[in-house]
Amino acid sequence: MTHDESSGAILSPLSERLDILASAAHPQLRAACRKITVGDEFALTPAELRPMDRAIASVRRASGAARIVAKALLAELGGPPAVELPRSSASRAPQWPSGFVGSLAHDDEFAVAAVTRAPSIRGVGIDVEPPLPLPGDLLDVIATANEREQLKGDLVSARLLFCMKEAVYKATYPIDGMFLEHHDVEIHLTSSVALTNSGHSLRIYAMARPRLIALALLTS
Ligand SMILES: CC(C)(COP(=O)(O)OP(=O)(O)OC[C@H]1O[C@@H](n2cnc3c(N)ncnc32)[C@H](O)[C@@H]1OP(=O)(O)O)[C@@H](O)C(=O)NCCC(=O)NCCS
Repeated sequence: MTHDESSGAILSPLSERLDILASAAHPQLRAACRKITVGDEFALTPAELRPMDRAIASVRRASGAARIVAKALLAELGGPPAVELPRSSASRAPQWPSGFVGSLAHDDEFAVAAVTRAPSIRGVGIDVEPPLPLPGDLLDVIATANEREQLKGDLVSARLLFCMKEAVYKATYPIDGMFLEHHDVEIHLTSSVALTNSGHSLRIYAMARPRLIALALLTS
């Protein structure tokens, strides 16, 4: 693992694989990750901290790490200087600078971000999870009957399906404000397409190793 002095992002094989996944999704989509590090919580500006000033340090740290990654990507894409990524007070979705869309996620170890300024991309969602099986009792909650048939009992893939659905929600909520339950999104694993009850069709891009990561893309 090496440290990129210019962006503050930690470069790792995971970041490189994520960048390749994002480029495959769209040539103007950028994504990267950072191992969450003690002190990342201090990257949050007062406006970014506001709704979570009482959150425990690990939560603030993960949010700070995701914003370090996102701001590095915004800078690479020619974004405005000294940008802030506060949360919407109603939905908690991050607010992106004009002309950009993106998404943030974090698990216990890694923070990830995806950002683009491609006019044809209306929404982006990203999610990350450790590569562990989904607890069996959650399978019916997360997966529809069609999805369970495709999964054939593979609970690591079921956790990736969970990631995909969270990414879909993050991509569509900022557009239509519609809350989605897990069964409101159906993923076709062979065609990598997600359909929502709210009428959207998204492309899904995912990796299973070294981390479960899903990107959802809503294009015009
Ligand atoms: C948004 C949500 C999916 C985030 O999941 P999580 O496991 O808590 O956390 P993640 O690390 O994956 O993502 C957190 C990031 O999501 C982003 N986020 C939060 N609410 C969001 C929303 N409404 N729209 C878009 N992005 C949102 C934020 O950037 C947040 O990071 P931050 O707090 O550091 O700013 C979840 O909290 C939620 O609201 N779920 C309800 C809807 C749902 O899950 N439906 C089933 C799937 S269709």
